[in-house]
Amino acid sequence: MRMVDLIQKKRDGGTLSEEEIKFIVTGYTSGDVTDYQMSAFLMSVYFKDMTDEEITCLTMAMSQSGDVIDLSEINGVKVDKHSTGGVGDTTTIVLAPLVASVGAAVAKMSGRGLGHTGGTIDKLEAIPGFEVEIPNDDFIRLVNESYVAVTGQSGDLAPADKKIYALRDVTATVDSIPLIASSIMSKKIASGADAIVLDVTTGDGAFMKSIEDAERLAHTMVRIGSLANRQTMAIISDMSQPLGNAIGNANEIKEAIDSLNGNGPEDLMEMVYVLGSQMVVLAKKADTLEEARKMLEASIADGRATAKFKEMIRNQGGDDSIVDHPEKLPQAKYVIEVPAKKSGVVSKMVADQIGIAAMLLGAGRRTKEESIDYAVGLYLNKKVGDAVQEGESLVTIYANREEVEDVKKVLYENIEIGKDGVEPTLIHKVIT
Ligand code: URA
Ligand code: CA
Repeated sequence: MRMVDLIQKKRDGGTLSEEEIKFIVTGYTSGDVTDYQMSAFLMSVYFKDMTDEEITCLTMAMSQSGDVIDLSEINGVKVDKHSTGGVGDTTTIVLAPLVASVGAAVAKMSGRGLGHTGGTIDKLEAIPGFEVEIPNDDFIRLVNESYVAVTGQSGDLAPADKKIYALRDVTATVDSIPLIASSIMSKKIASGADAIVLDVTTGDGAFMKSIEDAERLAHTMVRIGSLANRQTMAIISDMSQPLGNAIGNANEIKEAIDSLNGNGPEDLMEMVYVLGSQMVVLAKKADTLEEARKMLEASIADGRATAKFKEMIRNQGGDDSIVDHPEKLPQAKYVIEVPAKKSGVVSKMVADQIGIAAMLLGAGRRTKEESIDYAVGLYLNKKVGDAVQEGESLVTIYANREEVEDVKKVLYENIEIGKDGVEPTLIHKVIT
C-alpha cells in the first residue's frame, strides 16, 4: 500500500477500507507516513468527508494506537461524560460526586485546559492537597469503594490523536466533523468507559457555532459509540453565554459546592440534572430519566451529594474542610466591580470573549507551559435576560493585580445591554 494512492483516493471522493485507514494511522504514528502526506490527507478529508464506517475505523485505529485502559475490575457499568468545551463549565465537578452519591460508578479521566480557564483537573487542583495523578490500581480501588475518582489523562492514551491534532492545528483542518468526532471518541474509547454521555456545545463559546453542525457532530459521535459497542448519548447545549456564574478555578469549586448544597445557578443545575439523569440510567441505577432525576434531587436535598464530594476530596489527599469553609480556597487580593453604564436588560454576553477576560487575569493558559492562578476569575452578577440598573455591578473581577483596565475593556465590549433580552434555550436537543 502507498500513502500517495490513499490520499488520491480520498481526494477523488472515494471510500477507504478499514485496512487502508489502519495503514494511514499506524504509519503516521510510527513516522513512516510523513507530515506533508498526512496534511494532504487531512485536507482531503476536510473537503470530501467520511462515511460513518470510515469514521469508526479511524476512531478505533487511533484509540488502539497507545494504551487502552482496562476498567473491567470495576464493578458495574462505568459511565464517562465529555463536553466539547465551554466557558465557566463547572458541570463535571458537580456531576462526579452527585452521580456517585446515588451508586453509579464514575471513573473520570479529565484533561487540563488550554484557553479560557483550567480544565476540570486544574480546577480540582485549586483544592489544597488534591492529587490528580493517581496510579491505575488506586484509581480502580477508589471507584470500587467510593464510586468516584477523577484523574488526569495518564500514560500514552491515543498518541495518534495527539500527533494528528497537533498537525490539524497548523494546517487549518481542526473544524472538520469526521476529524473532531474521531478525535474525541478515540480518547473516550481508549479510556475504558462502557457508556458515554456527550455534551456537544454550540454558540460563541464552542467549536460548533451553529446548531446544525453541532447536531451532525453529535449524531456522528453517537453512531461511532454504538458501532464501537459503547452506549452513547448526546445533548446539544447552548454556550452562547458562559454556564453558571463563576468563571475561574477556585471560584468554580465554590460554585460546585453551592450547587451540591442545593444553591447552584439555575442553568448549571439544569445541565447537571439532564446529564446526570442520563448517566444514572446508563449505569442501570434507575429505569427512567424521571426516576433518576428524583434520585439526584433527593441526594442534594439530604446532603449525600455534598458528603460524597468531601469523601472524594479526602480519598485523593485533599483538604475536605474547604467544603464547609470555602474561604480556605485560594483567594484573590483585589475584588473589583464592573458597573453597568446604562439601565436595561442584558441582551448578550459573548462566551468565548468573557472566557478570554478570565484568561487575562491568569485563570487560564495561553500556552502549555503557563501556570494557572487558581484564585483569580470572574463572577457574573447578571446573565442574559436579567434587568440591570445603571451603576449596578455586571461582573465582579477577582484579581491578583490592581490594574484591570484590559479585562474591563473586554467585558464592556462583550456584554450588551439593550431594551430586551431573552434567556437562551439551554438544551436544544437530546440525541440517543
Ligand atoms: N476536542 C478534541 O479532543 N478533538 C478535536 O478535534 C476537537 C475538540
Ligand atoms: Ca461556572
